[in-house]
Amino acid sequence: MATQIELRDIVKSFDNHRVLDQINLEIEEDEFLTILGPSGCGKTTILRLIGGFESPDRGQVIFDGQDITGLPAYKRPVNTLFQKYSLFPHLNVYDNVAFGLRIKKIPENEIKPRVEEMLRLVNLRGFENRGVESLSGGQQQRIAMARALINRPEVLLLDEPLGALDLKLRKDMQSELKRIQKELGITFIFVTHDQEEALTLSDRIIVLNEGVIQQIGTPIDIYNEPINSFVADFIGESNILEGIMHRDYDVSFSGRNFVCVDEDFYPDEAVDVVIRPEDVEIVSNGKAQLHGQVVSCIFMGVHYEMLVSTDHEEYLIHSTVPREIGERVGLFIEPENIHIMRKGEVEGDEDL
Ligand SMILES: Nc1ncnc2c1ncn2[C@@H]1O[C@H](COP(=O)(O)OP(=O)(O)O)[C@@H](O)[C@H]1O
Ligand SMILES: [Mg+2]
Repeated sequence: MATQIELRDIVKSFDNHRVLDQINLEIEEDEFLTILGPSGCGKTTILRLIGGFESPDRGQVIFDGQDITGLPAYKRPVNTLFQKYSLFPHLNVYDNVAFGLRIKKIPENEIKPRVEEMLRLVNLRGFENRGVESLSGGQQQRIAMARALINRPEVLLLDEPLGALDLKLRKDMQSELKRIQKELGITFIFVTHDQEEALTLSDRIIVLNEGVIQQIGTPIDIYNEPINSFVADFIGESNILEGIMHRDYDVSFSGRNFVCVDEDFYPDEAVDVVIRPEDVEIVSNGKAQLHGQVVSCIFMGVHYEMLVSTDHEEYLIHSTVPREIGERVGLFIEPENIHIMRKGEVEGDEDL
């Protein structure tokens, strides 16, 4: 696949506060790319730089090999879908969708089939004459989508577009978004702070924190091989423990040594040890590496979520077998389920 958009060494500050720091990013043609990170980390600012609503202090925005850093928004082959749909309340569905083409003075006989095509795409044929205020939130979101796509942008920027919808509707719209993106074959750059949404929808995910790209990868890469404790914590619930990596395959945490599969750290380097709740096994005393007491046990639908307190830490554990509160249990962690992370490592750091 070809690179479509490139951000090169982008730096952006507001009021002397650096909001984006050395952003380097290549976006492929027709991919579903998600920018994931906590509120205030700079996600919207990246979209606005790509859309042309903001210009960087340093660095370049490249589109199909051309430097478009100084190109105004309306000349970019990019459209944006915001969380607030901002439909025109006094116009009906047809006129809302047709709006972008009328501004461009496209003849009405050309507009009609294109509006129909868009309404078919978002599953709202027959709604042409409805007032937009008579529609549900999900339907309004679909109309906003049709309106953003009718100009046939090469790239659609989506800024937390599902944020205002309730959970059920959100799930429905997620699959709709994916279908529409595949059907049109265009690039989606999607912003969310919801890690589950990012994992379900994306071809690739960029995890951003405080204006710095932490990691870029497929959902599976990011879930299975988080680069640091921030990503591990943000992507899923994890146990994150302070550890010391003594030498290759030998780490200590929770007051004892464990065999692990990691290598190439400094001798006795302080590290973050990440262990997923589903990877802590409850075992008989003979096999146990750690011992603890069950503090809580809640049924979550498919598994039980337990807190087990050991002498040093509290472990979050997912298990299909419930335990009594107060029960003493043994814990065991397989070497390959102990993930050792260098403190503060981010995407692009040289391997030692
Ligand atoms: N126009 C602006 N003027 C001043 N500060 C801004 C402006 N836009 C964004 N910021 C600040 O930049 C930071 C990143 O904002 P934003 O990109 O909107 O984050 P996100 O979308 O990840 O929540 C925040 O601290 C925000 O307050
Ligand atoms: Mg935002």
